[in-house]
Amino acid sequence: MSLDPAEFRKAMGCFATGVTIITLDLDGEVHGMTANAFASVSLDPLLVLVCVDHTARTHAHLHAKKRFGVNILAENQRAISQYYARPARTHDSAEEDAGALFDRTAKGTPMLHAALAYLECRLQSAEDAGDHTIFIAEVEDVVVRKGDPLLFFHGQYRGIGGEIK
Ligand SMILES: Cc1cc2nc3c(=O)[nH]c(=O)nc-3n(C[C@H](O)[C@H](O)[C@H](O)COP(=O)(O)O)c2cc1C
Repeated sequence: MSLDPAEFRKAMGCFATGVTIITLDLDGEVHGMTANAFASVSLDPLLVLVCVDHTARTHAHLHAKKRFGVNILAENQRAISQYYARPARTHDSAEEDAGALFDRTAKGTPMLHAALAYLECRLQSAEDAGDHTIFIAEVEDVVVRKGDPLLFFHGQYRGIGGEIK
């Protein structure tokens, strides 16, 4: 490979994204993972995708559970993004460390309090792509709230107006 992966990362860092927490129910426990490789795919049917590293625990959980939530973070939820990006974390101190609280949807999926939007997703297909898998899912329900988004740009958290406190 001639292109340096660090250069690739730098180029992709120019593409500003929102930040999501992918949530799953694991035998009554909440499992969450921070992800920004998330996109809308189709309107008919309603499809989205998320790309997950083969080494992430969430990778195996998505294959096993085939149902997940996508929680689009609000500007004041940076600590929640940082919490669910930490390797080998448990859910136990999510409320204490990051202020993350969850409700359950009718399907039992954990839904983060005060996120900008929530999408209830049912896995449709999974396609391996290099060291990640592209999980494509049908969107069965959404919740939308008012507010500004948390952004990720050049490897840093931002708000619509620039730096965030
Ligand atoms: C802003 C941000 C975005 C991320 N996006 C992704 C992503 O789209 N896919 C992915 O596999 N990991 C992504 N990660 C890394 C995972 O959140 C991290 O590896 C996590 O510890 C995996 O958790 P798990 O092993 O419990 O699945 C991201 C991290 C950050 C901080």
